Amino acid sequence: MALWTRASASPGTPVSAGAPDANIAAGAGAGAVARAGGAAGGCASAAGTGGARMASQAGAGVAAGASAKAGAGALAGAGASAGASAGAATGASAKAGAGAGAGAGATALLRAERLTKTYAASSRRGFGSARLTAVNEVSFEVARGETFGLVGESGCGKSTLAMLALRLIEPTSGALSYEGRDMLKMGFRELREIRRDMQVVFQDPYDSMNPRLTLEEVVAEPLRVHGRGGTKRSRRERVEKLFADVGLPAHLMGRYPHQLSGGQRQRLCIARAIALSPRLVVCDEAVSALDVSIQAQILNLLLDLKDEFGLTYMFISHNLAVVKFMSDRIGVMYFGRIVELAAKAELFGNVLHPYTLMLLSAMPSPVPGDSRGAERRAAITGGVPSLFSPPAGCVFHPRCRFREGVCEREEPPLRDMGGGHCVACHFAGEHGLPRLAEQFAV
Ligand SMILES: Nc1ncnc2c1ncn2[C@@H]1O[C@H](COP(=O)(O)OP(=O)(O)OP(=O)(O)O)[C@@H](O)[C@H]1O
Ligand code: SF4
Ligand SMILES: [Mg+2]
Repeated sequence: MALWTRASASPGTPVSAGAPDANIAAGAGAGAVARAGGAAGGCASAAGTGGARMASQAGAGVAAGASAKAGAGALAGAGASAGASAGAATGASAKAGAGAGAGAGATALLRAERLTKTYAASSRRGFGSARLTAVNEVSFEVARGETFGLVGESGCGKSTLAMLALRLIEPTSGALSYEGRDMLKMGFRELREIRRDMQVVFQDPYDSMNPRLTLEEVVAEPLRVHGRGGTKRSRRERVEKLFADVGLPAHLMGRYPHQLSGGQRQRLCIARAIALSPRLVVCDEAVSALDVSIQAQILNLLLDLKDEFGLTYMFISHNLAVVKFMSDRIGVMYFGRIVELAAKAELFGNVLHPYTLMLLSAMPSPVPGDSRGAERRAAITGGVPSLFSPPAGCVFHPRCRFREGVCEREEPPLRDMGGGHCVACHFAGEHGLPRLAEQFAV
């Protein structure tokens, strides 16, 4: 059972909750990120391949998954076992990872290698300044046309990673490229040019809007700033089209942001984000502030827009259920690191990191009166340690029920357990986590 369903209806259509996974599969499947078989390893630069549909649209730059090379900085192979479902997949087939899809993958749109961000910050106890590492050697790729999900508890570094990925902040170390171009070497002009291609949707759109602008002006702003959209009249027509795309009635164009509901404001924010026809949209907690029913509308809108405009998403949320609904491939973050990364079906069908199991246990049961609620809550133990004093060894060990001596001494590397399923745990595959995860299946 799922909390959201993929509505094929037009944006704005209310969506009922509690429909079967088949619908989710259909939703995610539209992105059709089929994992090509082949190369494994190289989790330091864990990667997937692009969607078959997008790969063919992209035309150039398509590389066969099997030819992807492991090793430092290389594009690692795609998960053979973890195909995202094709559009018509059933829930069962989605869970089994029975992906239908072509085996070719596209060049990564965005690639991050060992990105690290440290901040000088006052420690909570006020003993002068200390350094905290918000993002620690994180590597990932976002393939054209896929939705790469990032999930983790508050403070684990998701937003910092998003800002690094867009180069809105500078990394302390690491590498970052967009379409193979080194983003860290780009000057102002080049960055400005690729930023048209990369847009972001935040949790609270109100914060990022000038309250004195009308809704029409808010959406027209990026067109004006980037010298797009032509004359005032043609800009207005473009804004009208964008309003229609996101399901906002045109008669609202003369209103102001404070006159909208939260859901309408998020639609407005999405209209602004797609105004410049970007390829990559980073959604950072884009639905977290909304009611569940409105969340469903916005998530479906994002999926519809992805289909219509061939968008690529980096979709960030602390809510695993939302990330599951949206993503083709998912990175699980803990304490500034990616601790597990796999295609969606593989991740949910074959949980290998205890922290992912913990997150899974926290997913609300969609079944009213589910007596396993207390059991679920009990599975969440401890809190996230202070970034000022990271635990030795595996950073998750203070909370891990499976820890052993080595966990307190040695940090586990992110290893490829097969088919691009990367896990940072000394005992990955040894504790029967997939079986334990079954009780939390949603
Ligand atoms: N400019 C900054 N200076 C110092 N510390 C920072 C700065 N920005 C973020 N941090 C710290 O880095 C850590 C990661 O923050 P970040 O906002 O990326 O987490 P998050 O996963 O997005 O959390 P949430 O789910 O609450 O949005 C936090 O401990 C935060 O306090
Ligand atoms: S390395 Fe040890 S402490 Fe860390 S997640 Fe694995 S079992 Fe738990
Ligand atoms: Mg955040």
